[in-house]
Amino acid sequence: RKMLSVTDFRKMKKEGSKIAMVTAYDYPAAKLSEKAGADMLLVGDSLGMVVLGYESTIPVTIEDMLHHTKAVTRGAPNTFVVTDMPFLSYHGNIDTTMKNAARLMQEGLCRALKLEGGAEIASTVSALVKAGIPIVGHIGLTPQAVHQLGGYRVQGKDTAQAEKLLSDAVSLEQAGAFAVVLEMVPEELAQWISSRISIPTIGIGAGRYCDGQVLVYHDLLQYASPLKPKFVKSYAELGQHVTEAVHSYVTEVKAGQFPAEEHVFHLNETVSADLKH
Ligand code: KIV
Ligand code: NA
Repeated sequence: RKMLSVTDFRKMKKEGSKIAMVTAYDYPAAKLSEKAGADMLLVGDSLGMVVLGYESTIPVTIEDMLHHTKAVTRGAPNTFVVTDMPFLSYHGNIDTTMKNAARLMQEGLCRALKLEGGAEIASTVSALVKAGIPIVGHIGLTPQAVHQLGGYRVQGKDTAQAEKLLSDAVSLEQAGAFAVVLEMVPEELAQWISSRISIPTIGIGAGRYCDGQVLVYHDLLQYASPLKPKFVKSYAELGQHVTEAVHSYVTEVKAGQFPAEEHVFHLNETVSADLKH
């Protein structure tokens, strides 16, 4: 199927067809998610937590994002890939921000970048958009600010916070962002924001009325993800399958049951190739 573009995502919002996004951090996840029909892949800095084992996304570097983005774009050559700009890689002077963005685009070969923040980063978003880079905003719970927010908690519950989030979404749209992620906000607020801007909203823990949804790959597969927040639905129990499979292997090795006759080579045996894929 053909690669979708920012124009398609805008059209999908207009037509009311939902955008399905999932995170991916490596070649197999990208390949399988493309095959599964995901509209958009996100190389989220959540990789710091779900694949690198950090306690937050703060330790994640540009080098980490590049390493994983390269694998994802190789695995999903026909899918629109968005990459997160990691902690403090877009808060210094604009030259440094541009250099970091250039590396992710030129070496990572992704199609768009995502930045956390609202009105306060609008001028940065605007500069990146003017340089030709499609940008996704991210407001509500912004994990790079976890220590300021006092934990991973629902955002925008009072009127003042809700109005601030709406004005942030409007600022991002005006700055030229083509989509905005709404993370952990009440459904009513996400619905309100979605109706007030013309760019698609992609929700995570933001209810049913966003223009699209995103989930973390390891969460939806229950693949050793550290947390299971209320907004996650498990579509598989991969962690359990992996544990059972590796345990069977370990048990068979110890019992001398693996390898068996069909797995071994013999002298004087003629085989067309020693390795079969
Ligand atoms: O890093 C990530 O996975 C994200 C999504 C949760 C939106 O930013
Ligand atoms: Na992220």
